[in-house]
Amino acid sequence: MNLKDLYIDFFKSKGHKQIPSAPVVPENDPSVLFNIAGMQPLIPYLMGQTHPYGTRLCNYQKCIRTVDLECVGDKTHHTFFEMLGNWSLGDYFKNESIEWSFEFLTKILKIDVNKLAITVFAGNDDIPFDEVSYNKWLSLGITKERIAKTSDDNFWIAGSSGPCGPDTEIFYWQGSKKPPVKFDTSDENWVEIWNNVFMEFNKNTDGTISELPKKNVDTGMGVERVTAILEKVDDNYLSSIWKNTIDLISKLSNLPYKGNEKSMRIIADHLRTSIFIIADPADIRPSNTEQGYILRRLIRRAIRHIKTLGIDINSNWESKLTDIIVKQYQKYYPELKQKKETIINTLKIEKEKFNKTLERGLKKFEKAIQNSHHIDGTLAFHLFDTYGFPLELTVELAKEKNIDVDIEGFKQKFMEHQEKSRTATALKFKGGLAGNQEIEIKYHTATHLLNAALKQIIGKGVHQKGSNITSERMRFDFSCDHKLTDIEKQKVEDLVNKWIDESLPVTVKEMPKDEALKTGAECMFIEKYPDIVTVYSIGDISKELCGGPHVKNTKELGKFIIKKEESSSSGVRRIKAILKGSMSSSVGGAKTHDK
Ligand code: SER
Repeated sequence: MNLKDLYIDFFKSKGHKQIPSAPVVPENDPSVLFNIAGMQPLIPYLMGQTHPYGTRLCNYQKCIRTVDLECVGDKTHHTFFEMLGNWSLGDYFKNESIEWSFEFLTKILKIDVNKLAITVFAGNDDIPFDEVSYNKWLSLGITKERIAKTSDDNFWIAGSSGPCGPDTEIFYWQGSKKPPVKFDTSDENWVEIWNNVFMEFNKNTDGTISELPKKNVDTGMGVERVTAILEKVDDNYLSSIWKNTIDLISKLSNLPYKGNEKSMRIIADHLRTSIFIIADPADIRPSNTEQGYILRRLIRRAIRHIKTLGIDINSNWESKLTDIIVKQYQKYYPELKQKKETIINTLKIEKEKFNKTLERGLKKFEKAIQNSHHIDGTLAFHLFDTYGFPLELTVELAKEKNIDVDIEGFKQKFMEHQEKSRTATALKFKGGLAGNQEIEIKYHTATHLLNAALKQIIGKGVHQKGSNITSERMRFDFSCDHKLTDIEKQKVEDLVNKWIDESLPVTVKEMPKDEALKTGAECMFIEKYPDIVTVYSIGDISKELCGGPHVKNTKELGKFIIKKEESSSSGVRRIKAILKGSMSSSVGGAKTHDK
């Protein structure tokens, strides 16, 4: 049986409910571009909100981490991965969590105890040594020598603020020799396979730590890594997850995997991630900003390696590879099959675009070397940044002409650029939803009001297509076939402000999905909601399926001002709006329950 199925079945047998994988692009959480962990979509619940599925949850979650994008090409790095997770929302804590992890690994996966080692939180100035976890592991038969106490590596937080806590990590011996008696955390043969975080704290945006209303458990296990371990391969790309993809790349290029590993891994990894991004409900397409830019880099890097392997760029590789990757995952993520045509078209269009800049970049390159026998860092970075040339392409071209490239200079420019975008990102996302900032909660409620106002003024055919919130503004995309007139914009703005002035209460109800839809509740993507949903209502003017959080009363919002109305894509308009002079808010919404 597949690892994902074994995991879900096991935790269901321990009273957990399976929750669906959330989209890879978080909704209403501007603190990250992509979900980086299974817990990310659960932040409001870890912060104390009631989850409609109860207090014991499990799932497999689509995740994307791009910090190590440049490392992809080795045996272990991936940009997309699936994370298995189980959560306790104020239910069980350390003892049960550790016991079940141990049971799953040794009884279900039949992993030899002698190949396991553990780290536990050693304590720091604020939080004491995690004695409970330490003793629990001892009681399960892990020897003292195999339990390491560390501080820095045993505290988990998704970003700079939000729910967090000490963790205990489980390691597996992947070396070919017998595992040593003593666990040396710096020995790379020990690989981390599971992380159990005991989320008791919240790191506030001012850096202080406070206690969460409940003690939670958040665990995460990487599917790719554990599959490789179970299949006894020391290269993740040799596991059954990748086999069909690598075989196809090998066939398309007429080359063996051995000797061409790097390019084949990059193609396989980057295309898989691109496919998941394109299929996401957020409808991301290659662009030069945010998620779209990551998507562009992934596709272009994959194309570059497709060329390296000598695969004809104009052959139908994008369709064949999409086909095989979609087949691999469609059972778990049906959206891939539904969006297959879109995925293939998007890859095709980007391929054609890259081919064009590639030609222009080559001209620039030729011109530059007419007068010089050296490519400095600025030019190498310009080729990378403007023409989408990865450094290795520039180096390769230069080599053919016996010209050297200032690689260090390129790295320097690259780092400066990264630093700039990091700072920009940090500024932009300062205090995301993870920090649960009041203003973002207000914008979230304003989003519902705007959605309702557009329906009244423009027409019932208006539907939400996306939204994005920062602490400075809200952005709302909606289906509409025309540019809004000034009068329409004014009417929408006035109506939202009228509702704010009316001090409408915001209430939340849990109910079965079918019933919620019958009552006419709005929702963006019905397939992604669980069977029991939360419905937020604002007076009797708005009703939406939503995970919250929201303010209690519209009077907290202040004045709503539309700053811009523009086209987002064909048939989709975008409004940017701000709130001014809002009063301090209370998170939640009065809770009512169906009897
Ligand atoms: N959030 C933790 C992690 O990503 C455990 O799930 O490692």
